Formats: sequence, C-alpha cells, structure tokens
Amino acid sequence: MRVLVIGSGGREHALLDALSRDDSVTELHAAPGNPGTAAIATNHAVDQASGDAVADLAEELGVDLVVIGPEVPLVLGVADVVRARGIAVFGPSAAAARIEGSKAFAKDVMATAGVRTAHSEIVDSPAQIDAALDRFGPTWVIKDDGLAAGKGVVVTADRAEARAHAAELLEIGRPALFESFLDGPEVSLFCLVDGTTVVPLLPAQDHKRVGDGDTGPNTGGMGAYAPLPWLAPGAVDEIVDTVVGPVAEELARRGAPFNGLLYAGLAMGADGPAVVEFNCRFGDPETQAVLGLLDSPLGEALLATAIGRLADLPALRWRDGAAITVVLAAENYPGTPRKGDPITGADEPGVFHAGTAIDDRGRLVSAGGRVLNVVGVGGDLAAARADAYAKLGRIKLPGSHFRTDIGHQAL
Ligand code: GLY
Repeated sequence: MRVLVIGSGGREHALLDALSRDDSVTELHAAPGNPGTAAIATNHAVDQASGDAVADLAEELGVDLVVIGPEVPLVLGVADVVRARGIAVFGPSAAAARIEGSKAFAKDVMATAGVRTAHSEIVDSPAQIDAALDRFGPTWVIKDDGLAAGKGVVVTADRAEARAHAAELLEIGRPALFESFLDGPEVSLFCLVDGTTVVPLLPAQDHKRVGDGDTGPNTGGMGAYAPLPWLAPGAVDEIVDTVVGPVAEELARRGAPFNGLLYAGLAMGADGPAVVEFNCRFGDPETQAVLGLLDSPLGEALLATAIGRLADLPALRWRDGAAITVVLAAENYPGTPRKGDPITGADEPGVFHAGTAIDDRGRLVSAGGRVLNVVGVGGDLAAARADAYAKLGRIKLPGSHFRTDIGHQAL
C-alpha cells in the first residue's frame, strides 16, 4: 500500500516511522514533511490547507491512503475533498472536525450526549470580563474558542493574568471561553473511530507547562509518557463507554460521523472522567510515545478506519513496558523562538523532527519552537526515561532547553 501523510511535525514523523515498520506499506510520501521525514519517505511540497492540492498530489502519486496529521486542514475540509475523489483518507470531515475547531460546538455535542465536562461560557465583549471572572475561578481557565494549538489556553490562579488573557483575545477579535477548572490528573486517550466503532490506543499523559514541576507558561506540549501506571484498571473502558462512544454516536446522529482519530483530553476526578477538550487528530507529543509501543501494523489500522472496517481489525498489540517523549525546545520558547541554530546528534532512531530545516550550507538547523521530539522506550518507565535522556545528552543545539521530569511523578 502507498501512503501519503500530510503534515510537517514530530507527530507526522513518528506516524511515518511507525508506517515504515508495516510490511504492507510499500511506499511512503510526506507533504510537506521535514528534514527528518525525508530519510524515510519522499517529501513533496503542498499547500496543506487546500483540499484540491492535497487530492491532486494523492492522485498523482497513486496512493491508497492519505493520512492527515494536523487539525487545520481537517477543520478546513481537506479530508472531504480527498474522500470525494474516491481516495481512502484517515481524518474526519470538516463537519466532524468541529469537535476541535469550535469549543462551543464540542460543548453542545457533549451536553446532548450526556458527557461530563467543565461548565463554560463564551465572553465576547470586554464589558463582560469582570463579571465572568467573578463567576469562575479562583483558578481561571480561559481559552481561545477556536484552533490555538494549545497556546490559546491560560490556566492561572492570578486574576490579573486571567483578565489580561481574556482582554487580549477579545482585542484580536476572538471570543474568550471561560471554563470551570477540572481537578484531577490529566489523561489523553486517543481512539480510532469509524462512525461508531471505537478502538482505544494506550492512554498517555502530556506535560503542557514549559518548566520542571509544571511551572511557567503553557506550551504546545513539552513531553509525554505512556501508558499510565497509576490509571485504574478499567478506566480506558470507562472512558470509551461514557465519553468517546457517546460523542461518536452523537456526531453520527447529527449527520457528521467521525472518521479518524478522536482524542479525548480528560481530567480523572474523584467522580470519574470529565472532558477537558476533544481534538480531531493525533495528539502531539503523546503520539510519539504511544506509537513507540505499537506492535500491530499501523497502516492496516489506519486503512481499516478510513474505509469503515474498524470492526474487523484484529485487536491491537502493544509492547510491554513504557515510552516517553521529551521535547527539545529552542531558546526562548514558548516566546518567539530563536531559529537557525545548528543541531548535531539527532540522527538516531526515536528522534523525530518537529521544527528543523536544512540551511543554505546544508546543515540541520532549528526552525521552530519545539525542535525535536526524543522518544525513549524501555521495560518500564524508569528505563524509558533513561533511554530518552541518554539520547538527549548526545544532541547539541545551542540555547535549547527541555524538561527533565517527564513521567517522573508517575514513578
Ligand atoms: N498534546 C496536546 C495536543 O496535541 O493538542
């Protein structure tokens, strides 16, 4: 099978890496890809936001499956255009991708499906901010009601900071979504979904703050680990039965069946799981860790989902042990990152490119905030951590930083 993966981040590099281990995958293409994906796939320039451009490329390459990694093309309806050309595509329609693209839509779906989530209100005028701050908090959760790649979220006990974030969103013309704070450890559960068949992957946990000990501002994610040794047995089934299944059914009932990867971000509170957010695609950087433990052929699983045959897929097999992803970030990230610094030591299995480029001297250089995703795998979490941090020790990037405590609390 020939597969085309759309996207250019560490998640897409890890997807391609897992696909390259599937014997049924004979040809791998990435668009646009990155310097890391070029080593295992053929990279092609494409406008990821254009359904016609992606479908034209897929036809030209004669691929059997298109896998769309990021949320932006999904929300824009790229999967719809590819599907309409008769090409199998892993990724939801624009209508179903609204589960991520509009937080207000997601709340409505969850309310109808009876799924527990935070209480929320949309604030769309500066005059409403103070009253909303009184009704929520003292831990305030304020989100951009749209796609913000994790960075539009501020969680803070500081009223002034909360106020400033809401005001900033309104100033740039974006409604601010106020949410009640959900207590409990967070879980990211990724599920393959084709309509109403739901197959969960291993549960993972993301580390969103930039600094050790969960300090500093939120980022797109600084690391992750899987599985979660502290998660109660039966919790994954409970999440599928009470959260993901009912949401998939409600989307289908609304005429927007979900096909692809439905990502439930949950807080595991004393009363059971409650939804923090849904995403319409693989999470980043959890995917890199989760796929490090997948023993089943990934291409077969994605194709079965794409063509609506998930119910026939053999049960997924997972390696014993644990995996962690550590993000190597550029100087000043999550502020404006410094770019163009040379990178050495990155040429190792389990090192995925997220923000890299080749400069005019042919050197591998940094080109984004989160530069590399380093995945360690081992018999247990301690061994996985040792593997990842040993690899990081061999990588050199001036000014870079990473968290040293990914997965540490779970130990
Ligand atoms: N891990 C957070 C995200 O993918 O949005």
